[in-house]
Amino acid sequence: MFNAPMKICIVGTGYVGLVTGTCFAEIGHDVICVDNAPEKVKMLNAGQMPIYEPGLEELVKKNAAAGRLKFTTSTKDGVEKSDVVFIAVPTPPQPDGSVDLSYMEKVSREIADVLTRYKIIVDKSTVPVRTGEKVCETIRRYCKSKVEFDVVSNPEFLREGFAVQDFLKPDRIVFGVQSQRPVHALKEIYAPLNAPVVVTDVNSAELIKHASNSFLALKISYINAVSVICEAAGANVEEVANGMGMDKRIGREFLNASLGFGGSCFPKDLSAFIKIAEQLGYDFALLREVQKINAQQMERFVRKIADTLWVIKDKTIGVLGLSFKQNTDDIRMSPAIALCLRLRKEGARLKVYDPKAMDKARTVLKEATFMDDMNKVPEGCDALVIATEWPEFKKLDLQRARKSMTHPILFDGRNLFEPAEMEALGFIYKSIGR
Ligand code: UDX
Ligand code: UDX
Repeated sequence: MFNAPMKICIVGTGYVGLVTGTCFAEIGHDVICVDNAPEKVKMLNAGQMPIYEPGLEELVKKNAAAGRLKFTTSTKDGVEKSDVVFIAVPTPPQPDGSVDLSYMEKVSREIADVLTRYKIIVDKSTVPVRTGEKVCETIRRYCKSKVEFDVVSNPEFLREGFAVQDFLKPDRIVFGVQSQRPVHALKEIYAPLNAPVVVTDVNSAELIKHASNSFLALKISYINAVSVICEAAGANVEEVANGMGMDKRIGREFLNASLGFGGSCFPKDLSAFIKIAEQLGYDFALLREVQKINAQQMERFVRKIADTLWVIKDKTIGVLGLSFKQNTDDIRMSPAIALCLRLRKEGARLKVYDPKAMDKARTVLKEATFMDDMNKVPEGCDALVIATEWPEFKKLDLQRARKSMTHPILFDGRNLFEPAEMEALGFIYKSIGR
């Protein structure tokens, strides 16, 4: 444990900031979460969740009730009362793949405005290498007094849908520092997690994040490329992945062939890393290939549906899964949503269901019929698609589905079912790499 609770401010209370602040409070610190969206702060102060993350709601309520977790729209208020300020505002991609750092700059200036004593400024947001230098320069430029401060890079490795457990049981904690001065306090903050700590320079810490995420995306595109070969060779990509994964240097995780990866991180971080490399004089062709394979995976899946149905226009297609992955309500860059929009464009009528992402999906899927029960989706459908790897879809009533569909045709974009079982049930079953 640490000697005394730290006073921490989190600026930007989204998927990253809210989980980070709540878990800091859970391990005993005093946390103020700042957000510039008043309705979000109002919800949180009323004990309502603006996002879904398993296990988050009870931790927010528990720690808010204990007085260790507060929410405000005032950066001034949050920063003045804290010793350590974490920045977790968005770093959205620009059309050319570069990163929009305007929120980072704005928050750096807001912090500089109220800086009157030594503080540690920690960047939690995913940023291009050398952003820490810019944050430091900006605070020094806009700070009215000559007060000392340290800027630290502390990238997050949280998977949406598993963010609370990933925070409380991290593989490693990375600190990129300009000097040794903040290291003790940083270790104190995370001490209750008993996790391996890496202390390095700011630039290396920033690159660890982009290099890690891009490698994970590369691993997925690699198995997706192998899935195409498996289909052509009459092999089973799941068996290949299992055999590969038993080599501990490879590992089985992130070798699940799919209709492609999405989310608010991989696509953004890949394009950012390619752009950063280009600006540093290196052509990261390998990562462009990762992007290309990912886009082709979606195209192949749509073609699989078109080849099987012959005509998609005026067909009724059921889609199970709208979030970008299981265990989350997040539809940002969701392959499932991209697929729905493609099928709509081809003239299909859609019946859709997702355990958590329906409200968010309604804002983008205008003409779709939203069902409140996954077993009602197949009724009257010409085909059924599994688009997100929600474990509950494995419990779909397949007998009922086969009887209620006009034709028992199922496209499994996440390899949730077994080909032999589906064929025995009388389905025309198409999946990935098998
Ligand atoms: C985002 C980026 O996606 C991620 O790459 C980065 O590491 C952290 O920020 P996420 O938490 O998923 O992660 O973003 P989001 O859920 O949009 O939350 C950002 C929050 O910051 C929002 O609640 C937004 O209202 C708030 N915000 C934004 C501020 O408080 N101040 C700002 O100036 C801008
Ligand atoms: C990712 C990284 O895992 C996390 O460490 C980082 O902090 C943020 O980005 P996230 O985007 O939340 O996390 O989800 P992740 O579980 O990595 O999945 C990303 C996408 O890849 C999803 O669309 C998922 O369905 C897909 N995926 C994942 C596959 O298609 N195959 C796999 O084997 C694993």
